[in-house]
Amino acid sequence: MLPYLLIALALADTAMGEVIAKFANCQNSFYASIPPNGFQNLSNQASIVNLCLKYPKNRNPFYAALYHKMYHYPLYSAYISSGFGQRASPTSLLEPQLVSPSLPPYMMTLQDLVKAIDADTTIQGDPITLIRNSQAVNSDYENTSYNKGQLNPDVQHLPGPAQDATYTLANIVPMNSALNSGQWRLYEDSIRNLTLTCTTMYVITGAVNGETWISNNRVNVPSHIWSAYCCVDANNIPISTQGVWASNNADNVNRVTIPNLQSWLNGQLGVNINLFQNNCT
Ligand SMILES: *[C@@H]1O[C@H](CO)[C@@H](O)[C@H](O)[C@H]1NC(C)=O
Ligand SMILES: *[C@@H]1O[C@H](CO)[C@@H](O)[C@H](O)[C@H]1NC(C)=O
Ligand SMILES: *[C@@H]1O[C@H](CO)[C@@H](O)[C@H](O)[C@H]1NC(C)=O
Repeated sequence: MLPYLLIALALADTAMGEVIAKFANCQNSFYASIPPNGFQNLSNQASIVNLCLKYPKNRNPFYAALYHKMYHYPLYSAYISSGFGQRASPTSLLEPQLVSPSLPPYMMTLQDLVKAIDADTTIQGDPITLIRNSQAVNSDYENTSYNKGQLNPDVQHLPGPAQDATYTLANIVPMNSALNSGQWRLYEDSIRNLTLTCTTMYVITGAVNGETWISNNRVNVPSHIWSAYCCVDANNIPISTQGVWASNNADNVNRVTIPNLQSWLNGQLGVNINLFQNNCT
């Protein structure tokens, strides 16, 4: 067992940057500051990194994402819903530290990222190639039938930096357009509305990898989207909780209990997942 343990520890240590081991700088995005348990048991851990999403320069992280470097999207985004926001679809930003830990720890435009790479003497190679190898870019979503589906949606944040920070490709998956503009949109609205009844509304929204890809196999298309919330009062006592999952090929959202969502995730991912401490009860 020991060699395996050492390999596992070595891999954990390679997690870079604001790409940080165990979400060290953004644990308060999670209920009780505890990230979901079980994702560390997925195979191919070397492809999975912990991101603390920052916008713009040197601000505290707004939320957390477990990013998959082969699928080129997050396995989940974990965040605190903060109220009534607006929907928009600007050009999405990119994550410098997915290219190199020597780059700045906050999201930026493609243009600015190319400049930052050019200015960094420790990085060798063509900036655009390095960027495309490390993450999805906006053009991957052009001319596809899929929407840029935000896991942490703009509509659950007041206009300002917390909302702006949702426009990064590290928070985006290819989502069925009927679902994204139909039942999933209503689910997002219902969480936003419910946020008014909580002191803090913790949400985790994720994607299950599927069999198809877009943009010359650059970005995986999730087979399913899922989400769970934990609404707590001023003493951090849970008030309400629920889970949902949806196939990414139909406009339908299934509402389930947290234990049922976890059983469903176990069937999809093959590992035991615990989303919230004590299932948010
Ligand atoms: C999308 O299609 C338009 C029109 O055919 C084309 O000009 C553009 O280059 C395409 N974009 C990508 C990323 O393939
Ligand atoms: C959310 O609240 C708005 C305004 O109060 C209401 O119009 C809308 O129907 C609600 N949406 C859902 C999905 O509950
Ligand atoms: C996942 O790994 C933990 C240790 O990190 C272990 O305790 C647990 O039993 C594993 N669960 C599975 C196989 O889902």
